[in-house]
Amino acid sequence: MIPGARLIILGRQGAGKGTQCVRLSRHYVVPHISTGDMLRAAVRERTELGLMAKEVMDSGALVGDDIMIGIVDERLRRPDADGRGYILDGFPRTVAQAEALDKITVERPIQVVIDLDVPRDIVLARISARRVCRDCGTNYTATGNERQPWICEVCGGDVMQRDDDTPDAVNRRLDLYETQTAPLIEFYEGQGRMVVVDGVGHPDDVFRRLTAAVDAAQGVAGT
Ligand code: AP5
Repeated sequence: MIPGARLIILGRQGAGKGTQCVRLSRHYVVPHISTGDMLRAAVRERTELGLMAKEVMDSGALVGDDIMIGIVDERLRRPDADGRGYILDGFPRTVAQAEALDKITVERPIQVVIDLDVPRDIVLARISARRVCRDCGTNYTATGNERQPWICEVCGGDVMQRDDDTPDAVNRRLDLYETQTAPLIEFYEGQGRMVVVDGVGHPDDVFRRLTAAVDAAQGVAGT
């Protein structure tokens, strides 16, 4: 039986965190908790949080730490995450969020933190070609030959460019990553929980590297 997992996936915007977390979630049978997806759902549903977050997200800035910590704390208490574990994608994004997460998970700590490493020039190319399903969030890569309107093959929703995938917002997100999120790598290295995985290559190869890293960290025999 595949054991559950309590993982954090870090990495630049466009590194493939969302793409790989969907696969990892199926593999380890744990929920994929993406704070970006949670915020986009709130925007779609026009909740108070969504109305506040939309402007911040579209500009490429970060939503406030207190709000994000509250959302994640509440989500990790639900039975699915409290049982087999979870994969955190997009959280923590600041050292303040990481310190809060340590307190939230004190009884069942995170097992491994993965830095999915992809250079900036490659993520820029990936993001400019990224298209997503408005309804289910499935990722696609545009080649320019798609039939319009582009319909999601998973749920039939509209496939579009994300509102925050404009060149200005992407550059701002990548700059913020260097100042706010990259220090997390040092934070987790200091705790001895950090593993760097090469995120360049075919998604199947990246997935194999990720599961090998997680299994090794969990001490699963044969990895
Ligand atoms: P979020 O949704 O987390 O966005 P992000 O960090 O910008 O990450 P991305 O979704 O851009 O990249 P990804 O690594 O998931 O790449 P993907 O798999 O799509 O956050 C959005 C916003 O919400 C933030 O800017 C912020 O405002 C707010 N927010 C969220 N969390 C927050 C927090 N904790 N605190 C404060 N604010 C927060 O892949 C990219 C593309 O590449 C896709 O097209 C994919 O098909 C393709 N691809 C993937 N893998 C490969 C591969 N191996 N080879 C070739 N192409 C590939």
